Amino acid sequence: MISTCCVYYHSIHVANRNRTTTPGKMKFKPWKVLATGLATLVVTCSLAAFIIGLYFLIINTRNTASSNTITAVTLSLSWATSGITAYGTGASGATANQFNNPSHIFFNSSNSLYVTDYWNNRVQQFSAGSSYATTVAGQASGQSGSTSYYLNQVSYAIIDSNSNLYVSDLQNNRVQYFAYGTFTGTTIAGAGGSGSSMNQLNNPRGLALDSNTNKLYIADTNNHRIMCYVVGVSSGTVVAGGNGQGTLNNQLNTPIGLHLDVSSNSLFIANANSHNIIRWVVNASTWTLIAGAPNGQSGSTSTFLNYPYNFIFDSSGNLYVADTNNHRVQLFLSGQFNGTTIAGVTAVSGSAVNKLNSPQSLTLDSNLNLYVADTSNNRIQYFQRC
Ligand SMILES: *[C@@H]1O[C@H](CO)[C@@H](O)[C@H](O)[C@H]1NC(C)=O
Ligand SMILES: *[C@@H]1O[C@H](CO)[C@@H](O)[C@H](O)[C@H]1NC(C)=O
Ligand SMILES: *[C@@H]1O[C@H](CO)[C@@H](O)[C@H](O)[C@H]1NC(C)=O
Repeated sequence: MISTCCVYYHSIHVANRNRTTTPGKMKFKPWKVLATGLATLVVTCSLAAFIIGLYFLIINTRNTASSNTITAVTLSLSWATSGITAYGTGASGATANQFNNPSHIFFNSSNSLYVTDYWNNRVQQFSAGSSYATTVAGQASGQSGSTSYYLNQVSYAIIDSNSNLYVSDLQNNRVQYFAYGTFTGTTIAGAGGSGSSMNQLNNPRGLALDSNTNKLYIADTNNHRIMCYVVGVSSGTVVAGGNGQGTLNNQLNTPIGLHLDVSSNSLFIANANSHNIIRWVVNASTWTLIAGAPNGQSGSTSTFLNYPYNFIFDSSGNLYVADTNNHRVQLFLSGQFNGTTIAGVTAVSGSAVNKLNSPQSLTLDSNLNLYVADTSNNRIQYFQRC
C-alpha cells in the first residue's frame, strides 16, 4: 500500500458527526500549488497505487457510512516526499514574500497563515492564496526595537478567537499583546525585564491560552519553566519545571513548543534540549514521556529526536514533531513511541525538494496537508497528503 510518492501509509478513522469536509477534496488550494501538486502527483506516483488507495478510501467510507452510530471517514496518513515552496523564496530577506528564519507557523480558521519571522522581528500574515504577506506585528521593514511598535526576535505567536495576537518577543524578554488590527503592543508578561522573578522572563517561546479562564501559559525557555499569567495580572506563577535545568522528570531543559489540553489540564511541551516531548499536568510535580528518550539522550533512529522545537496533534491524537536537528518531521501515531519520517531526510540538511534544513515548526490544513517552517531555508514547504 505504499505508493511511490509517499513515504508512509497508515489510515485513521475520523468521527464524522460534525464534519462537513469531503475526504480527498481540498478546501484551500492556491491554483499554483494545486497545479504543481497535481503535476508532482502524476509524475511521481504510481497510478496503480493511487487507484488502490482511492479504492480503499471509498470502500472504508462506504462501509463505515452504513453504520448508524458514528459515520467515519478513513484518511490515509501519507504525504508526498517532495515539498513545494508555498511561502517564501528560499532566500533570506525582508520583502513581503521573504523571511529571515521563519520560526513558528499556524493557520487561522480561514486558512490564513501566520508566520513569526524571527530575525525580521515581525509577524507576517498571508491571506489564503496569496504569497505576499501583511505585517500584523512589528515593523514591515524588519527593524528591531523595544518600544510598543517594535519586536526583537520573534519566536512564537498565537491568536485568540477574536484574532487578537499574543507574541513571544524573545530578546525583549516579554510577551506582547496586539488587539486585532492594531500595531501598538501591550506587555502582558515579562514587564520586569530579563530575569527569573515572577514578573520576569528569560527568552520566552511557546505560548498557549486557556480562553475560558484567561490564563496564558508561557514557555520561559531559559528559565526552564512554564509560567502561567492571568491576563491582566503583571506577575505569574510557575506551573511546570522551575527546578533548574536538567533531564530529571521534575525538570525542564530548554522548553520551546507548548500545547494546552484544556480537558485534562495538561501541558504538552517540546523539551528541546532533552530531545523529547512530554506531558505535564498543570501544577503537577513531574512529567510523563510522550515521544523521544526519557533520559535526555538524542538520536536519529525511529524512537529518538534531536532538539525538537515544536509539534502539533491532529484531531485523532497523532503527534507530528518538527525534529529540528534531525532535519525531518516525525509522525507518532497516538500512544506510540516509534515514529516515522514523513518529511525530510533523517540527519541530512539541504534545500532540495525532499529536504529540510532545521525545521522549527509545522502545521496541517483541514485536509491534513502538511506545511513545514523550513527555518534555515527561509521557506514554508507544502507536502500534499496522498
Ligand atoms: C483570518 O485572518 C484574516 C486576515 O486577518 C481575517 O480576515 C479572517 O477573518 C480571519 N479568520 C477568522 C475565522 O478569524
Ligand atoms: C497552581 O498552584 C498555585 C499554588 O497552589 C495556585 O496559586 C495556582 O492558581 C495554580 N495554577 C493553576 C493554573 O492551576
Ligand atoms: C519501529 O518501526 C520500524 C519501521 O516501521 C520497525 O522496523 C521497528 O522494529 C519499530 N521499532 C519498535 C521499537 O517498535
